[in-house]
Amino acid sequence: MHTKTAQKLDTTFKQEVYQGLTSYPKFLSSKYIYDKAGDKLFQDIMNMPEYYLTNTEFDILEKHKDELAALFSNDSKPFHLIEMGAGDGKKTKILLHHFTDQNLNFTFRPIDISQNALDSLEANLKEEIPALNTESLQGTYFETLRELNFSTDERKVILFLGSNIGNLLHEKAIAFLSQIQEYMQPDDLLFIGFDQKKNPQTILDAYNDEAGITANFNKNLLVRINRELKANFEVDSFIHWEVYDPESGTAKSYLVAKSPQKVHIKELGLEISFDAWETVHTEISQKYDAKTVHWLAEQSGLKVLEEFSDQKHYYKNYLFTKSA
Ligand code: AVJ
Repeated sequence: MHTKTAQKLDTTFKQEVYQGLTSYPKFLSSKYIYDKAGDKLFQDIMNMPEYYLTNTEFDILEKHKDELAALFSNDSKPFHLIEMGAGDGKKTKILLHHFTDQNLNFTFRPIDISQNALDSLEANLKEEIPALNTESLQGTYFETLRELNFSTDERKVILFLGSNIGNLLHEKAIAFLSQIQEYMQPDDLLFIGFDQKKNPQTILDAYNDEAGITANFNKNLLVRINRELKANFEVDSFIHWEVYDPESGTAKSYLVAKSPQKVHIKELGLEISFDAWETVHTEISQKYDAKTVHWLAEQSGLKVLEEFSDQKHYYKNYLFTKSA
């Protein structure tokens, strides 16, 4: 790397974009899709008929809310209901409404890096569920969980919904789960949504909708780099491409250059070339089976307490505790 360039890499975003686009094969992290426009596109994805994940998890929570109330509150002891990546809380609200109606003794603690996101969620919850006690936690998942683990004796019930875990390939998922496990006490619970292996066509359709919403979501990476790093990607000269390997359960998204092209990224002092049909790998959406989830748990110091599924077995929510 030239020193002239190195001076400019003063944010993680810049470093990661530089790294990904100067590698072969090229890659970018899907976490950067989620700016304001990306959040909106993800909302649209969740409303698409092809994207079965959201409604399926919604149905599972609705169907099992009584059982979950009993498991989480364990003889009506107080608990912290912690959510990593709450978003607009659409699915969590099923539990929040039900637990509030049942007079469970709990505090809702959404974790997010963005104070802005937390503020609008809190405002919305105050309006919709006035009796709910919300105390949000601003920071990274690990900072905030670690802090909370020190400062409370009450049970922690940690939610990680939406198959967000699927953005991590197994090695990284194990590192992530192991870290969470370290910030849990023996009585704490971890509740995670895992999208399941199913007809490969159903999965491909969910990530390659006819209307092109997922394509726009994926391409938002380039739109964001254009705006924030002063680049000149021609977004229309890339296509969104999805592959799914039914053996590994890994769905992968790419942006593929339709023609040879050069792109200038002013803020990085970088010019990059694309050959025709060169790829940028952007996202992993892992699909799971029972063996894999149990293996991940075992590798991370967790054990499965319960699992909940829908009629079609498209999706499962697992409840874990520390294994030792
Ligand atoms: C939010 C990571 C769970 O991988 O299914 C949706 C994101 N990407 N369509 C997923 C996503 C393309 C989503 N997660």
